Amino acid sequence: MGTQHVHAGWDAQDPHGSIVPPIHASTAYAHATHADLRDLFARRREGFAYARSGNPTTRVLEERVAALEGGAAALAVASGQAATTIALCALLAPGTHLVASERLYGGTTEFLTDTLADLGVEITTVDPWDLTAWERAIRPETRAVLVESLANPGCEAVDLDAISAIAHARDVAVVVDSTLATPALYRPGDHGADVVVHSATKYLSGHGAAMAGVIVDTGRFDPRRCPERWPRLTEASARFGVVFADERGPGCTPLLAYARAKYVTDFGATLPAASAHAVLQGIETLDLRMARISATAADLADWLGSQAQVARVNHPSAPGRPDARIIARDFPRGTAGVFSIDLSGGEAAAEAFCDALELCTIAVNIGDVRTLACHPATTTHSHLPPARRAVCGAGDGTVRLSIGLEDVEDLRADLARGLAAASGISALAA
Ligand SMILES: Cc1ncc(COP(=O)(O)O)c(C=O)c1O
Repeated sequence: MGTQHVHAGWDAQDPHGSIVPPIHASTAYAHATHADLRDLFARRREGFAYARSGNPTTRVLEERVAALEGGAAALAVASGQAATTIALCALLAPGTHLVASERLYGGTTEFLTDTLADLGVEITTVDPWDLTAWERAIRPETRAVLVESLANPGCEAVDLDAISAIAHARDVAVVVDSTLATPALYRPGDHGADVVVHSATKYLSGHGAAMAGVIVDTGRFDPRRCPERWPRLTEASARFGVVFADERGPGCTPLLAYARAKYVTDFGATLPAASAHAVLQGIETLDLRMARISATAADLADWLGSQAQVARVNHPSAPGRPDARIIARDFPRGTAGVFSIDLSGGEAAAEAFCDALELCTIAVNIGDVRTLACHPATTTHSHLPPARRAVCGAGDGTVRLSIGLEDVEDLRADLARGLAAASGISALAA
């Protein structure tokens, strides 16, 4: 695994022998003859024409992430949000239906319930642990189910093998946002996922310096298995003059060929080469970072659970979690560094806690080498109605932590400072 993090997708065989994948800062790509370029547009050959739909640096990133996920191919895009949007748009035509876990990143929930609904796709949300709810929610028009392998912010795991079996029995594609888990800890394709999406802005990049997203096709999804359910892939495209179901080969699958040709190009959700380069550098140390961050987070979660101001710790190791069996079975390498605590003093305590932190930074990102803290109910999940926020694990007193690479003792001291500030508020509230 660590070897692939460093080598997959790049063999130093560029003309100069550069051992680091270079940044291809070119908008357009030259062709020896007019016929070469014409054939590229006619999809008769592979290559680069104009960087909106890809460039050689993003191609290395695609090959590396596909290899890490054990997938058939990947598509790199401008952000994690673009990855989710494009993956779902490619699977869900107007009039179709999506079943989604009710525990998702707030931005994803907003996209589903607002923009995707505008596009004529119906959505049903379910408790991710209630397998009969997944069964019941799937209808003839359902084309995809969506879950997070570890949910943001409560770090809950799902029984993906069971959900995949339910979905596949009805020819429904399984889409998994695996941003928090990363392929260093968990590969959704090994548990039945058809499509994996990542916000590479987080752990893959790892240093809080680039926005990026990746869609991985694990190779299971075959639109020809049930052609009438996927006409946009199995019938000839008037616009592109091909049947996308035929577009299969190294680095190319029907779904990703369609997503790249149509949505990356039309939405302009291009990943800049410099960002792809930053993510590639981040991935080189992913394995090490995830091991260290997972261990530090588990240590701090355990300690926070014994603190008077903390009503509840939402970390996989916390006692009484409904996903304990799944975590023990599927996450032997750890569960990353994002988890949340519910402070008994509510929002005021959360505010005092955050403001007292000196080492941890108040910021809404996750997956950075620096530890970050935020109050999801008034930030990442603030556009959701309160009941929905609570279901997502973003209560009034919830503070989300994304643990970084600092020394655990320094972090414990800083969190203790936050708790001391919050304890005054709890006392006042009580
Ligand atoms: C689980 C998850 N998926 C997707 C996204 C969206 O990613 P991006 O901010 O790169 O667009 C986020 C952002 O926080 C996230 O936490």
